[in-house]
Amino acid sequence: MAHEIDALLQETREFPPSESFRAQANIHDPAIWEQAKADREGYWAGWAEQLDWQTKWTRVLDWNPPDAKWFVGGKLNASYNCVDRHLATRGDKPALIWEGEPGEVRRITYRELHGDVSRFANALKMLGVASGDRVAIYMPLIPEAVVAMLACARIGAVHSVVFGGFSADALRDRIQDAQAKLVITATSGYRRGSVVPLKKTTDTAVAECPSIEHVVVVRRRDEDDATLNEREVWYHDVMAGADAECEPEWVDSEHMLYMLYTSGSTGKPKGIVHTTGGYLTGCYATCKWVFDLKDDDVYWCTADIGWVTGHSYVVYGPLACGATVMLYEGAPDWPKQDRFWDIIERHKVSVFYTAPTAIRAFMKWGPQLPQAHDMSSLRLLGSVGEPINPEAWIWYHKYIGGERCPVVDTWWQTETGAIMITPLPGLVATKPGSATKPFPGIDAEILDQHGNRVEVGGGYLAITSPWPSMLRGIYGDPERFRQQYWSKWPGVYFTGDGAKRDADGYFWLLGRVDDVINVAGHRIGTMEVESALVDHPAIAEAAVVGIAHEIKGTAIAAFCIVKESERANALADPAKFEQELKAHVAEKIGAIARPEKILVTADLPKTRSGKIMRRLLRDIAEGRALGDVTTLADPGVVATLKEKYEEEA
Ligand code: WT7
Repeated sequence: MAHEIDALLQETREFPPSESFRAQANIHDPAIWEQAKADREGYWAGWAEQLDWQTKWTRVLDWNPPDAKWFVGGKLNASYNCVDRHLATRGDKPALIWEGEPGEVRRITYRELHGDVSRFANALKMLGVASGDRVAIYMPLIPEAVVAMLACARIGAVHSVVFGGFSADALRDRIQDAQAKLVITATSGYRRGSVVPLKKTTDTAVAECPSIEHVVVVRRRDEDDATLNEREVWYHDVMAGADAECEPEWVDSEHMLYMLYTSGSTGKPKGIVHTTGGYLTGCYATCKWVFDLKDDDVYWCTADIGWVTGHSYVVYGPLACGATVMLYEGAPDWPKQDRFWDIIERHKVSVFYTAPTAIRAFMKWGPQLPQAHDMSSLRLLGSVGEPINPEAWIWYHKYIGGERCPVVDTWWQTETGAIMITPLPGLVATKPGSATKPFPGIDAEILDQHGNRVEVGGGYLAITSPWPSMLRGIYGDPERFRQQYWSKWPGVYFTGDGAKRDADGYFWLLGRVDDVINVAGHRIGTMEVESALVDHPAIAEAAVVGIAHEIKGTAIAAFCIVKESERANALADPAKFEQELKAHVAEKIGAIARPEKILVTADLPKTRSGKIMRRLLRDIAEGRALGDVTTLADPGVVATLKEKYEEEA
């Protein structure tokens, strides 16, 4: 009983908005959820009207599940909305404040951004890129990456940003899937003091990509040099020759703005498709109400542009609001573990949005680091990417937010395009660990297997009505789109997450229910890692599971069956073999997919239908089922455990 009361006390810690925050918040009318529900289309149309349209839409929504069209018949341009429309009132305001890892700082006003985007848009056209063509972007977090995205948008080209930490193979696969015509890259990028040779990786990838006609290369460091072949051009050269006026291409509201690859439970990463009008509306609305953006804010979302967070909350959302966006290229612990706090102090950052994995690292490094900096400019904090554990939430609130900043824990996905479940900081009392409530106009529910609504308790998280920034498909694979998201219940979007709702209607996210592992806030499909392992000449079969990790939240454990012929060789030096396998996965996919633990096993437990029993593997990897996992090499052990687990199930 005492234990239950403790648990209840834990769950009922509440942080209501302060009177002063509430008074200045962009939204402080508690009737907003009801109003949005009563006229959902009218409500979203109200947001869309705050963007600039060249032609207004004739219908707000066409919904033929699972296909949605928002703001039908409307025409607009995303780069115009993010740049041009601010020129009259914010021309000299910094759009970007960029800091490179070595410490150089660049401030780029809206007027300068307009010139750069227009010039680069013209350059892309000169290089043969037309509306609808796909352009891959493989770059470090430098202003040119933002310019590249917006320049694509300006001419109606579809960008596909590939995270700069991904391998040549991953880049190649994504270019091939999208049939991209052009890649924009940089000679190098910085990460934790070392120089990452992006151009070299691009060369390896592009060698197997016949669709690529040109490669544009940004010179990241003055000392970087490269001999370019006939299809490669320097960014600075094409910019020097380009006109600074470029009429934006007025595209249909449903014109594809970008695709972004994300991992699923089966097969290769899928290219999630986002279109223009609805997506921009969702990003804009959530920036206004969740981050409470004001004209004098210095807003910093620490995500890389390689992830959806970088698309929606580094580029499209804040720039559509006319905000000043902080960009930082490098690692949080370079040159010292207080780099973020130093940046916040020097640039007077007021809104800060980061991930729980980073917060847990900050906790480990200690509160003395933020305490040594003046962070009084901060007024709001955000979290995204995975469930935030209450201790991390409290630490963030106390040591970063000085107990005065609301913390918004925002749940959403690459597929949803924009924030879906979140506190509105002037209205919702937060509970540490809960993403709280759906954003107004979003119908999120907890459903059971049969699609029945769970009022209080756990189940699957589903979205029951279409929303403007929803994905429009998986590039080139409409069947997978239906199967993956819309087949569980008719006309309802299945998120792949489990969640519970408490008696106050608050949502608590419980993590993925499919074979996707969320490592440090990034999705990795078990299949992808398994394929990479089996690609190693010594591995016959592999199974991968997520295990608890102090900083990453979840890390990867890989069970590997070594080929008979390779066994003696591989197991002569197990430590070396383990390193080799980890490096192989990093090489195949990227460092984020590197397994934390490799367990060599003689057998993999499978159900009668051949499905890997991941729960059993998780229990083994976390030391619950067996103390000493070296005994796994004995085939009998796994067989015995399997029987026991099948009895329990
Ligand atoms: C998955 C989506 C959304 C941008 C970053 C990740 C998990 C995300 C939260 C949160 C609990 C969260 C979910 C979701 N997730 N935010 N605030 N609380 N879980 O985008 O790579 O598409 O991953 O991340 O499991 O399904 P993504």
